[in-house]
Amino acid sequence: MEKDTLKTNYLTSFWEDDSFNSRLDILVKKRTLSLLGNVKNKKILDIGCGSGKLCRLLSKKGGFVTGIDFLKSQIEVAKQQEAGQPLGIKYSQKDFFSNNFESDQKFNIIISHLVHVYYKGKAFKNSFKKIYNLLSKDGVYIYASNHPSRVFYNESSGWIKTYHNPKRMNYFKNELLKMKLISLTGSVFNNVDYHHTFSETVNSIIAAGFVIEKIIEPSPNNEEMKEFPQFKDEKRLPAFLIIVARKPSIN
Ligand SMILES: C[S@@+](CC[C@H](N)C(=O)[O-])C[C@H]1O[C@@H](n2cnc3c(N)ncnc32)[C@H](O)[C@@H]1O
Repeated sequence: MEKDTLKTNYLTSFWEDDSFNSRLDILVKKRTLSLLGNVKNKKILDIGCGSGKLCRLLSKKGGFVTGIDFLKSQIEVAKQQEAGQPLGIKYSQKDFFSNNFESDQKFNIIISHLVHVYYKGKAFKNSFKKIYNLLSKDGVYIYASNHPSRVFYNESSGWIKTYHNPKRMNYFKNELLKMKLISLTGSVFNNVDYHHTFSETVNSIIAAGFVIEKIIEPSPNNEEMKEFPQFKDEKRLPAFLIIVARKPSIN
């Protein structure tokens, strides 16, 4: 039941086309690309790659990219794109969180953008160890997810106390966060995902053995604000949290 709600959420979202026109594209994918810099000849895994937008961008920069996603519809779109413009990206339909992903190679870079939002508890925590084991020594992991402060984002998040909404969102619990959001292109959508506290996220990544190198709370720059004045909320409150973690070369 819960999984179905979350599934509907992926299917009704708006990350299909290749232009940079969503908060996720601008504040996460663009930031990840600049954080990674030169990816030539790097083996890269994108977990929850969706329709493969980031895979294509990384492949065009010379990376050897594998993209996995558990939704057939997303992988089909990605494969169609690959058939239309072959870049050598390997896509497969895999459920990373229920353990059916195995690889005979280690990756230099692993990325998971907005995938952990659908998991909590053990599945959330154990995923970081799996990622750690799939990375080569000195490999980099880029985690990106919704910022925990999103509970404060707007009234629909259930944080603000109103007469009509007596149930309060509890920051310290992995509750489902249901919010109405307006995309940069104007469509309204019902976002449903799990809230994770800042400490839970950071400590789970550290517990897997990673060294955290950088934490980014992306905020639109002046140029981005000019192009998308709708970003005004992200100027006062971060929508996303990006964590750059490294598997140590000696362990
Ligand atoms: C919010 S979308 C983000 C897509 C892409 N990473 C991006 O940044 O544009 C989350 C994606 O994670 C995928 N996903 C969720 N759970 C997954 C799992 N267990 N294994 C693989 N992919 C999963 C969904 O199907 C969806 O395509």
